[in-house]
Amino acid sequence: MSGATLGLRGFAIWKGFLDGEAQAGLVAALRPVLAAAPPFSPLTPYGKPMSVRMSSAGRFGWYSDRKGYRYVETHPDGTPWPAIPAPVLEIWDAVTGLERRPDCCLINWYGEGARMGMHQDRDEADFSWPVVSVSLGDDALFRIGNRTRGGATDSLWLASGDVVVMGGDARLTYHGVDRIRFGSSRLLAEGGRINLTLRVVT
Ligand code: SIN
Ligand code: FE2
Repeated sequence: MSGATLGLRGFAIWKGFLDGEAQAGLVAALRPVLAAAPPFSPLTPYGKPMSVRMSSAGRFGWYSDRKGYRYVETHPDGTPWPAIPAPVLEIWDAVTGLERRPDCCLINWYGEGARMGMHQDRDEADFSWPVVSVSLGDDALFRIGNRTRGGATDSLWLASGDVVVMGGDARLTYHGVDRIRFGSSRLLAEGGRINLTLRVVT
């Protein structure tokens, strides 16, 4: 684990944090998690299915439907979320140096054409904890804006193995994924991109 850090609008971006072996190890650790908690397409509060398929690990999973965005303690099939795999927690430890560990690992799977609109991560109780994002698989065009909606933005391509820390003054900065370059990576047998976001919920 290494990589060069770069700051953009208050986000710390670790390009190439995970080498190929670490990326493959992470995918292997996620496979049983996704088998136990299959990804699904949450509905937006407006009732439209999201293009990104999601699942979670940890005590809490992020969920959305017509009742709004929230954390829930079970998968829609009624079972508790699987534990967050150790190699995922080790990334959190390495980039945050915090004693406290995340209690949610949201797993976002982007297939061809999937995107994520500009949003803040604000369903957690305490914004002094950072959110850590890990990219695996296809490249994604990540856009970073401001602490309020709108205004100028900067974009950068996130590649497999990149880690982003969204914390401090930038904890509530708007961000989103405009598109992925489907087929740009061979890491995932089924293609596409997995993004993990680690959050302290309570
Ligand atoms: C997110 O903001 O939850 C996901 C970001 C990403 O996919 O890189
Ligand atoms: Fe987010």
